[in-house]
Amino acid sequence: MKTSENQSLLEYNTFGVDVTANYFVEYESVEELQRLLATDLLRDNKYFHIGGGSNLLFIGNYEGVILHSAIRGIRELDRTDTWVRVRAGAAEVWDDLVAWTVGKGYGGMENLSGIPGEVGATPVQNIGAYGCEVKDVIDEVECVRIQDGALVRFSNADCQFGYRDSIFKREWRGQYIVVAVTYKLQLQPELHVNYGSLAEEIKRFDVPTVASVREAVLAIRRRKLPEPKVLGNAGSFYLNPVVSAAKFKELQSLYPQMPYYEAGNGKYKIPAGWMIEQCGWKGKSVGPVAVHGHQALVLINKGGANGLDIINLSDSIRQSVRDRFGIDLTPEVNIIFG
Ligand code: EPU
Repeated sequence: MKTSENQSLLEYNTFGVDVTANYFVEYESVEELQRLLATDLLRDNKYFHIGGGSNLLFIGNYEGVILHSAIRGIRELDRTDTWVRVRAGAAEVWDDLVAWTVGKGYGGMENLSGIPGEVGATPVQNIGAYGCEVKDVIDEVECVRIQDGALVRFSNADCQFGYRDSIFKREWRGQYIVVAVTYKLQLQPELHVNYGSLAEEIKRFDVPTVASVREAVLAIRRRKLPEPKVLGNAGSFYLNPVVSAAKFKELQSLYPQMPYYEAGNGKYKIPAGWMIEQCGWKGKSVGPVAVHGHQALVLINKGGANGLDIINLSDSIRQSVRDRFGIDLTPEVNIIFG
């Protein structure tokens, strides 16, 4: 177990916000985590668990304990003629796992190539991109229960996945720490390449495979999304709002060019990036923060921004979208107030 005091979190948040935590603890096994949960450090202080820090915005120094997993390991558990189950420790880098499975020709994760972050966050957030979500391949989630340190296993159905959502963000918030995830992948992959920009990009491959889908997705991401090491960011800053059929019809009559996706139950998802662009924010800077010039859903730290600079820009954007479209954007990024 590694423990440090007054730890800088600069390397632990992709927004590149320069804050500190009173304590930072990294554990390497389930047993270490179980022991840690019983210590005074966690009884006497508030704490927050981070993964790759790719979906976080710290507003100030964190006056408590930041926990981080170092539980690694990728291994195949079992297989039939049609599927294989792969188990990964929470601290594995998600895209390393995707590269590993794609390298073996297994299907299911290729559309989720290039998403920053670690395995442990994937079920909590139900990460998604290019028409797929991680819920489509999650078989089981292993967690430690914070209350008593018990190791518990949850099925896909237990997790109650939704759009960038799961029970871990709602009813079970703060109750479990993910230690490993088991994914069920296809041995005869069925490719999903209908998503707008991917459908175009994949045309350059004669016979698409999981490897070519990965290559195509990575190419699109490189064009649209800023590299966090160069320009601090946390991916999409907002969720794409899901609206009723009535609201959708009203907007569509005003904006016939508006892109949309059917979201089930008669509802529609409207790309927040499109709305932000319509409001004139794309590529605009305010001090050290800006709206990314290639994807308006992404806010960037041009250097030296703090959490409040980012929140202030976000508030102005939300106000514009509210005024013009009558929609209140919900941040997708996890905002942590000291
Ligand atoms: N659009 C614009 N202007 C913009 C951005 C987007 O007009 O500045 C339009 C596009 O032309 C397109 C539509 O909006 O018609 C959708 O754009 P895009 O495919 O780039 O995806 P998105 O809806 O903006 C979502 C996810 C991304 C994911 C992409 C691709 C959310 C909150 N975001 O973005 O996920 O990579 O789809 O599947 O659902 C993330 O969660 O951090 C993330 C990057």
